[in-house]
Amino acid sequence: MLEFNDLTKAFHSTTAVKPATFTIPDGQMVGIIGRSGAGKSTLLRMINRLNEPTGGQMLFQGRDITALRGRELRQWRNECAMVFQQFNLVGRLNVITNVMSGRLFHHNFFSSMAGVFSEKERAFAIRALDRLGMAHTALQQTDTLSGGQMQRVAIARALVQEPRIMLADEPIASLDPLNAKVVMDALRAINQQDGLTVICNLHTLDTARQYCDRIIGMQEGVIVFDGTPKELTDKAAREIYGAEAEDAFSEAMTSTALRPGAQRAQPEVRVVN
Ligand SMILES: Nc1ncnc2c1ncn2[C@@H]1O[C@H](COP(=O)(O)OP(=O)(O)OP(=O)(O)O)[C@@H](O)[C@H]1O
Ligand SMILES: [Mg+2]
Repeated sequence: MLEFNDLTKAFHSTTAVKPATFTIPDGQMVGIIGRSGAGKSTLLRMINRLNEPTGGQMLFQGRDITALRGRELRQWRNECAMVFQQFNLVGRLNVITNVMSGRLFHHNFFSSMAGVFSEKERAFAIRALDRLGMAHTALQQTDTLSGGQMQRVAIARALVQEPRIMLADEPIASLDPLNAKVVMDALRAINQQDGLTVICNLHTLDTARQYCDRIIGMQEGVIVFDGTPKELTDKAAREIYGAEAEDAFSEAMTSTALRPGAQRAQPEVRVVN
């Protein structure tokens, strides 16, 4: 179980996440929704300590995560695999090498510099790719894949970390609806088959409703909704998205996806070279 006790993050004058207290039981699939700037990424990034909390405490299975330092902190980061909107793969490397980079924590400096992976690790990486329907691309250069395929490779890389929690920050925001479905289906399957906790920032309300056991709604750094998809009525959703919700709702009537507060341009699909 992950427990948050008054967890807070302030950036100078902005309090991105105001004291948040809640728990996430093992094996839950949680969607975090809210307008742009609501604090979703900050909350997610505090879990793996990419953003350092400025107040409060976080416990995992009773252990104080906020107090971890050095190797223990690196180990915790390895246990919280993260999937990003823009995949963060190395485009000029082949797929299997990208996946095996998820094992680097288990290597010492010299073996990781030399890119030495055991046969067992290669087999493990291929199995992870196979679960995502991507084993046939193992030797392909990563930047030749489509965006949806790249995200599946990124999920395979996350899986070989053997994480205890999977974090995903808008994993489908750069994808077309078909690829978005494939990626969300994959995350849900991993959640259900492996019992892995999945915490996912989503900008489409219907995706959160369709895939998650629980939805957390944020507004200006505050958790204003915490309940099941059924409990997230249109009225509750309007409250989360505030005044701009009406535009978004009317958009939703005519399109398949509801994108409240998401007037921002969608980033281009790209990989790190
Ligand atoms: N590194 C930073 N330095 C200063 N302010 C920051 C930093 N990161 C985030 N913020 C601020 O914290 C608030 C929450 O940002 P955050 O990125 O968590 O929102 P979000 O809900 O993920 O938004 P989006 O949907 O656009 O991704 C915003 O006001 C943002 O400007
Ligand atoms: Mg964000």
